[in-house]
Formats: sequence, structure tokens, C-alpha cells
Amino acid sequence: MKATRPPDPAASPLPDAGWKRRFRQRLTRWFSTHARELPWRQTTDPYAIWVSEIMLQQTQVVTVLEYYRRFMAEFPTVVELAAADEAAVLRQWEGLGYYRRARQMHQAARVLVEEHGGRFPREWDSIRALPGVGRYTAGAIASIAWNARRPILEANTIRLFARLLAYREDPRRAAGERLLWEFAEQLLPRNEVGRFNQALMELGSLICTPRAPNCSQCPVQRLCPTRAAGLQEEIPAESRKMVYQQVREAAVIIRRDGQVLLRRCGPQERWAGLWDFPRFVVHSRTAPDLAVEAATQVAELTGQRIRLGRRLTSMKHGVTRFRITLICHEAEWLGGPAAADLCWLNPPQLADYPLSVTGRKLSKLLSPEPPADAEDPARR
Ligand code: ADE
Repeated sequence: MKATRPPDPAASPLPDAGWKRRFRQRLTRWFSTHARELPWRQTTDPYAIWVSEIMLQQTQVVTVLEYYRRFMAEFPTVVELAAADEAAVLRQWEGLGYYRRARQMHQAARVLVEEHGGRFPREWDSIRALPGVGRYTAGAIASIAWNARRPILEANTIRLFARLLAYREDPRRAAGERLLWEFAEQLLPRNEVGRFNQALMELGSLICTPRAPNCSQCPVQRLCPTRAAGLQEEIPAESRKMVYQQVREAAVIIRRDGQVLLRRCGPQERWAGLWDFPRFVVHSRTAPDLAVEAATQVAELTGQRIRLGRRLTSMKHGVTRFRITLICHEAEWLGGPAAADLCWLNPPQLADYPLSVTGRKLSKLLSPEPPADAEDPARR
């Protein structure tokens, strides 16, 4: 067998032609028997591929499957997506998180209709100019839809490439990313680029996992210097650890004649475009202080005057670096003006509005009347 140079990060970090040829052969042979049957792999429609790739950013395949099916049933073409209200798009996205992805996709759909006649452009610069489409997403769309010779680099391939190069630094920093993009580019085959890129992601996702990678089943185990050195748990180097911040927030269900008040989150807020019960950070530690603080905050946020009522529940949840304890109260409405970002709804109407995950949980606790077993604010 002809000797090929394994990647040696101390010298020139990228492997030679023989190594790349073997890698491509072994990977594509493995993919032909191990590829999962995923709905976005049954199509070359760039719109469908785009939807799947946006959903797959920061979200696991198993979670995406059902969202993808429903989203494509609701918005089967870019024209239908562009024609939809943003709220309808966010309703389909509800629970997937990172809602900016959905808002940008909706904006991009409108650009596609207005500037490209509702068709996906093939020109690289036009794809890259779409809101929310970075180098990775553009590469995935162009390679999978048209076999354009474009590399990809996302969570799975960052990990896979870092191990294939035995790259000891943090691959998410600028120098690491530059190297890995270069590697991704050099690895590309001449043909069937989309299939190759998907095979890379599949290997990263199924075999080259973050913890305890399944090296004994890996088709390229003999080409991997990280496996040879037993450094699978050290590579890739971890990014700086997230420092979590504890926050206390309150959500208030304000009732008026059997209806509840919802507020649309503003463009700079965490859940921009989604609706929620008025919600804010609180500092009070006692029930009387909370009653005053909540009334003040609700007035600032919505212009409504309220009297805080019973505590319904509390929930803990995490968003980015925040670990939030959310205390949920009912409130009596005392008065206040109408506004474009406010609406009064009967509880069944909440089903049509995109809510945050906690907003949806709270909405399920609502009954037309205040529940009899709700806690008294004085009993906190
Ligand atoms: N992660 C991101 N894109 C993917 C794809 N097309 N297949 C599997 N996992 C992915």
C-alpha cells in the first residue's frame, strides 16, 4: 500500500492527496449503507433544503423531523412562505427556539419573491445576500441542490475535522475556523458534492460524537490521528465555558371579562415577534413588594393598571446564558388604553398565536375562571 502522509498539525496541517482520496472513498462507501432516510434527503428543491438546514442549526435531527414536516405542509413553497404573516411562521416554529432564524427566513422568502421571481438564485453572491444565510447555509443549499463545489462547516463537521487534523486549539476561534474551512474545501470531491457534504455531517452526527465517539465503527478510523493518539476526549478543545446567570422574572396573567392580556415582544427583545403574558425581571423578595413592583412594571410595559392576584405557579427554564425562575401570577385589570402590541383574547384563541415555551405552558393552565387551587400571594 502506498504510504500517505497523515495530517501533522505541527508541520503543514493539511493532509496529502492520497489521504484525501482514501478518506473520500471510505466515507462515501460507508454513507451508502448508513445514511438515515431523512425527508430533506429525498429532494433537490433548494427551498426544502434551505428550510431543513435553517432548522438543523442548533437543533437535533430528531427534533427537527416533526417541525420540518409541519412547516413544509403549511408553507410548501417559498411563495407561500413569503405570503404568510410573520406570526403564522413563528407559530410553526414555536418550541424550536432561536426565533431569529424563522424571522430571517421569512424576510428572505420575501426577497426571493420580490427580487428573484420566487426562485432560488444559483449565483453565490445572491444566495449569501439573503437574510440569515451565512457561508455554511449557502454551501449546504448550493452543494445539496445543485452539486455546486462548495464546502460546509457546522457543528458536526467542526468536531469531525478537528479530530481528523488532531487540531488542539479551539476550532471555533478565528484561526481554527480558517483552517477547517480550508480543509473542508480541499476535501471536496469533483462530483456528488452534496452527497459528500451530507456524508460528512452524518459521520459527525452518528459516529464522531462529542463524547465517547464510536471509533471502532468509523470508516476512517485508520486515517484519524486523534484516534491513533487516543485523544478523542481532548479534541476538539472545549470553548470557554458558559457562565450562567440566575434571574428572577414574573409573568402576569391579567384578566378582563374572561379574556387575558397578551403582549407582542418588541424587535429588540428575547422573543421578538412572539406573544407573551406581560413578563419582566423582578427583584422583590416579599409578596407586598412584589405586588408594588409588578404593578409598576406592567404599567411601564403595557400602560395597564393592575392589582396583583394569586400566584399560579413557578417554572425554571434556561435561555442562552440565563437560568430563569419565572413566577406566574394572576392580576386584576384596573384600566388602561388599547395598543397595537397588546391584545385581549379568550383562552381558546391563544392557540393561533405564537408564544414562548413558558407562555404556552402558562396558557394551558388557564381556565375561563381563576383555578380554585391557585396559591394566595400572601402564602409565598
Ligand atoms: N446537520 C445540519 N445539516 C444536516 C444535514 N443535512 N443532515 C444531517 N445533519 C445535519
